Amino acid sequence: MNTNLKQTGQSMRHLASVLAPILLLGSLAACSNLDRSRDLANPDVSGRTLAQQVCSNCHGVTGASVSPNFPQLAGQQAGYLEAQLKGFRSHQRHDPAGFQYMWGLSRSLTDRQITELASYYAGQTPMPHPAEGTQADIQAGQKIFQSGAADHQVAACFACHGDHGQGNGTIPRLAGQHADYVIKQLKVFQRGDERPEGAIMTTVSHNLSDGDIRHVAAYVASLQN
Ligand code: HEC
Ligand code: HEC
Repeated sequence: MNTNLKQTGQSMRHLASVLAPILLLGSLAACSNLDRSRDLANPDVSGRTLAQQVCSNCHGVTGASVSPNFPQLAGQQAGYLEAQLKGFRSHQRHDPAGFQYMWGLSRSLTDRQITELASYYAGQTPMPHPAEGTQADIQAGQKIFQSGAADHQVAACFACHGDHGQGNGTIPRLAGQHADYVIKQLKVFQRGDERPEGAIMTTVSHNLSDGDIRHVAAYVASLQN
């Protein structure tokens, strides 16, 4: 009897010593799967991993996107990124490209993942990119950015977006943003309430002509800092 128990004890210990490395390997595998996961519905995946595995397909690995369909996120203000992701998640921001692309992607993000995603992109260095628009467009845009257009009641953009278009808190960085994306968003604001958090921009953009929009977009796209 005793010998049997002793043998069972020994074989249990043997089993444990065989199993331990397997269990360890298992947990390592689970860990490295989490590090490479594309599962937007798993709250345990970090914001950084989602940025690299999922968001990178459109916004670039470091938030420097190539196509103007996808806004640059590198160096964007964390407070702004966080507010936009929550705006997509709650369906408050409902401009057409926003709901087509970003509603589904943000649906299951947790507040923690959103904070991590925002600080991931805010910490990236924006990449310089080639000028969009002519030198004359850029100069006309600079005038609007710095002085507004008093003749048709347009506020100077720098007053909120900063001298260098760097943004501040929930006011977005515009420097180095794709001109076509800036044009598209100014038209979103002009249409009205598709971005309720941007109500102030509906007032600001109301009297901008198509020419003004093109110029100011070319100017902010040209800013590098
Ligand atoms: C399939 C392409 C695609 C993927 C993948 C994608 N996005 Fe987007 N994202 C877009 C598009 C398109 C827009 C612009 C929407 C618009 O015009 O309103 C956008 C807009 C945004 C904005 C608003 C930026 C601004 O300047 O207002 C943020 C923030 C954002 N995405 C973050 C993310 C994050 C974080 C992920 C990963 C969880 C992600 N995106 C994945 C296509 C994508
Ligand atoms: C009174 C402050 C204020 C002024 C002046 C202002 N903005 Fe804004 N702007 C904002 C705020 C706040 C937002 C963020 C809106 C939101 O959260 O949806 C914004 C957002 C934007 C966006 C969207 C960026 C993105 O990534 O989607 C663009 C483009 C923009 N502003 C351009 C301009 C231009 C061009 C001017 C000057 C003609 C200007 N703004 C003047 C406060 C201002």
